[in-house]
Parts: sequence; C-alpha cells; structure tokens
Amino acid sequence: MTMSDVTFKINNMEITVPEGITVLEAARRHNIDIPTLCNLKDVNEIGACRMCMVEVAGAKALQAACVYPVAPGIEVFTNTPRARKARRVNLELILSNHHRECTTCIRSENCELQSLAKDLGISDIPFEGEKSGHHIDDLSPSIVRDESKCVLCKRCLAICNKVQKIGVLGAVGRGFTSQVQPVFNKSIAEVGCINCGQCIVNCPVGALKEKSDINRVWDALGDPTKTVVVQSAPAVRAALGEEFNLPMGTNVTGKLAAALRRLNFDGVFDTDFGADVTIMEEGTELINRVKNGGVLPMITSCSPGWIKMIETYYPEMIPHLSSCKSPQNMTGALLKSHYAEMNGIDPKDLVVVSVMPCTAKKYEVQRDELSVDGNQDVDISITTRELARMIKEARLDFPALPDEEFDPYYGDYSGAAVIFGATGGVMEAAVRTVADVLNDKDIQKIDYEAVRGVDGLKTAEVEVTPDLTVKVAVASGGSNIRKVMEGIKNGEYKDYHFIELMACPGGCVNGGGQPIISAKRKMEVDIRAERAKALYSEDASKKYRKSHQNPSVIRIYEEFLGEPGGHKAHELLHTTYSQKAKV
Ligand code: FES
Repeated sequence: MTMSDVTFKINNMEITVPEGITVLEAARRHNIDIPTLCNLKDVNEIGACRMCMVEVAGAKALQAACVYPVAPGIEVFTNTPRARKARRVNLELILSNHHRECTTCIRSENCELQSLAKDLGISDIPFEGEKSGHHIDDLSPSIVRDESKCVLCKRCLAICNKVQKIGVLGAVGRGFTSQVQPVFNKSIAEVGCINCGQCIVNCPVGALKEKSDINRVWDALGDPTKTVVVQSAPAVRAALGEEFNLPMGTNVTGKLAAALRRLNFDGVFDTDFGADVTIMEEGTELINRVKNGGVLPMITSCSPGWIKMIETYYPEMIPHLSSCKSPQNMTGALLKSHYAEMNGIDPKDLVVVSVMPCTAKKYEVQRDELSVDGNQDVDISITTRELARMIKEARLDFPALPDEEFDPYYGDYSGAAVIFGATGGVMEAAVRTVADVLNDKDIQKIDYEAVRGVDGLKTAEVEVTPDLTVKVAVASGGSNIRKVMEGIKNGEYKDYHFIELMACPGGCVNGGGQPIISAKRKMEVDIRAERAKALYSEDASKKYRKSHQNPSVIRIYEEFLGEPGGHKAHELLHTTYSQKAKV
C-alpha cells in the first residue's frame, strides 16, 4: 500500500487500489465484473448507457461505476436487486430501439449488446414501439453506417474527435431523436473522414462496418478469364488468428498463406515484398534529400488514412511527404507490369486483391494516381475481418491448416518488411538500410529499440555514420499526428530528417480492418503491444532482416527496375498528392 492507495469495500470485500481510478476499474482489477456498454477506457467515460449501475452505501441514487471514483471507506454493492433491475430496464430500453436482426448482423457473436442481453437473461422486450434511426449511409468506399443499430454510446464520436482528432461525427437531436451523425447530416464520404475505421473497431454493435468487397473477390475467383492474385499486409498475420480463437499475438503467417492458397488464388504473395521495395525507394529518396538539400523532414507515405489527413487538413505540408506509393500499391504496380509480363498475362486480365488491416486501403485502391497505363495497381482491397469471413464461408479449419510459404519471388521478404505493421517499424526498416548503404557495410546491430513500443509519439537520434546523426520521430493516431504537424509548423522539428506517421494508434496492427476486440478486453490487455510482438518475433527469426538483402528485391532491380529511384522505379512506384476538400 502506498500513500496514494485507496481502501474501500466492494461486495463486503475490502480492496486496495490506486486513487483516481473508477469503481469499474477497481472492481475489474479484483475480478468483479460490472456490465458496460458505452465505456471505453480513457476515451469515452461519459456515463451515458447506465449499464454499469451499482449501489453505493449512503447514496440515494444508483451510481454509474464507470465514472464513479473510488474513495476511502466507501461501500459498493454491484449485484443488489435494485442495481440488477436498473441495468435490465436500461438494457431493455436500448434493445427496444435497436434493429435486432442478429442472425444476419455482421457483428453476431462479437456484439457487446448481444452479449449483455445474453448475460442478463433478456428473453423478450416489454417496450416495443416506434424506432428512431433507420438511415444507412454506404457512400464511402470504406465505412458503412447503419443508424438503426446505433445504441448512442458515442464511442465512435469520442474516438474520431479525441483520439483521431478528425471530428467528423457529432451528436444531434435530443431524447428519442438523438443521433450520431456526420456534420451537416452529410454522408461520411463527404465530410473529411480519413477512412481509418477506428470508429468501426470501437463500435460495440453493428452500427459501423467496412464496405464489404467479399463478393467482388468471389466473383473474380470464379471468373475463368481472370488470373487472380493476392497480397497480404504484414499486420494481417498478427491478428487474423484472433478470428479463429487463437490467442492474441499468435503469428499465423504460414496458415495465412495456406488459407489463401485454398481459396484458389492463382498467386499467393506478400505485401512485405512491396515493403522491402518501399524501403529501397524511400531510403534512396531520404539520402537524396539529405545530400541535395531537399524538403526535410521527409514524412512516410504508407498509411492511406494519414495521406487523406494531410491532403485534407495540411495540404501546405504535402512537399514533406515521400513520393513513394504504399507497399500495397508498389506490390500492385509491379504485379501489373513485371509479373504480368513475366507470365504472359494481359494486365487487364490480372486481378490484384489485397488483404489489409485497414479500411482506408479501400479508398486508396480507387485513387486515379495509383494506376499503370490505365490499370489500377490494386483492384480490390479487403480487410483482415473480410478474409476471416471468406475462410469461414469456405469452411476451412484455419487453426488446423499446415504452415505453408508464400509463393516465391513476390512472396519473399525480409524481417524489416514484417515490422512495417507496428508503429516505428517503417522507420526501423529504413534506418537498417540507410545505415548499411551510407557505411557501405553490413551493420550487425540493427534492433533500434528507441523507435519501438506503443507510445504515440517517439523521437530518437540515430548515429548513421560518424558524420551523420539522423533525427527521427514516429507518431501514430490522429492526435499525435496533429502534434507533429503543429511542431513542424512552429519549427520544433526543423533539424529532423525523417518522420514516420501512421493514422491508427499503434500502427497497422491496430488498424480499422483488424478483428474487433471488446472494450472490456481492451481494458485488460494492450492489443497494440500484443499484436506487435508477433511481428518482432518473426523479424528476429528471418534469415534476411534488411530490405536491401532480400534476394528477390535485388533481382527485381537487376532484371526489371534498374536503379532505386531511377526512371522506371519513378514511373511505377512513386505518386503525387493533392488537396482534398474538408466538406
Ligand atoms: Fe457506465 Fe455506460 S454508463 S458503461
């Protein structure tokens, strides 16, 4: 016990916890669960849903445990008849206004509302009547909103406003007419949304989901005139297992390759190959900017949510962006050119599918700039969750699949590429290559711990050569990105060389297309750290841990691309950006 500990009683049991936490957190730390719906730790603590009602001795009214702070000597009862009745009535009221199509809802079996109804033994709803929201907004290429399922917990709003600092969602109306909507009641496609999907992975129900492209993939796979190849991003392997009840942090690279092969893709490739190529191009670009007085700090361009953010909110900063396409699109552009040529396929008959931890990739693949001779680099992008659904529909027993390799060449990758999926990974991968190139030797110490970890904003100085110490920063999540942007504007980063920015907190492992984890579980475990571990351990196990050592990358430059940053590489692997409207 320390000076700042608090001792109080819960269900007649004396417990000691740090001061400043809520009764909910204290209870859960001592294995006493209290139901919740609107609560999202540190993000949405507004006491709105009233599912967490408890009795506090001496207080007349029931209290919401998620916002009630612990205090010395209080006595809390979590399961009195009064508390249970209040929760039940509150839940019945929420359910009475909810479009309860559970059998066909995308969140069935992973719905916090459904779990509550089951846990509280709700079998019928006494308050049937008119329902409020019924509008479905599906104009965005990434996100679908269904008001009829919204429970007004405001978790999406809090994530969008406080964590991502994009702020395109707001609460409107009162009482029965209350709704969460984009500004001016427009479609989410029209309001400066960056498509990150953080609202989806923090929604407790099916009110927010990705725009599904599964049927387009099945159609392509069933079309005998098409060659259909697939590439999978690094972060997918760190989380896909969760959809099949494997422990969080299980690396499923081998089973992922096996599953994609059994879904009948004609080529089973890895976006990690494109990540290695990205490092060749981005590293070259960085060295050129440093040597030739280009715009610094240079900022990474892998995250399409971040790209939409700079184009929408900081267009004047675009010259800081690397001109590199993302690994997804580098892989796609090479498949549509080099791979198609090598295999005698007309690029028009080649369908490139990507599996991404990201909903913003669905927006990215449609961008006009990201094509080769009129063929989109990538045709269809699906999320980790959508791939899991395809695997289930195909009745594959995922945990029982053997570990297989991706197909050679476009499935070859270094350890550096694998860590792209975690915040700091692109930076570390780039530094590994830049240091080798500038020193002209194979440097052995390559674990750059200073840029690892889930902190939202990290800075480091890396001595790359005796004459050059590179100053770098790494940030993830919109609010941290905004801090960096303001810092660049006011000169705080004027002597920095390279900055890695990722739209989602923790990087792609926590992307908006990843498996959805309940708020309660997120209180117990840092999913960003657990998933990142799966990537760092794969990196450590790889024979080649630097992008420029990947033999297939060396080969593609020798036989097709020429020099990194050269003419052909520029034509295929680099892009441009332009200002986008806020509303
Ligand atoms: Fe406590 Fe919603 S009021 S979880």
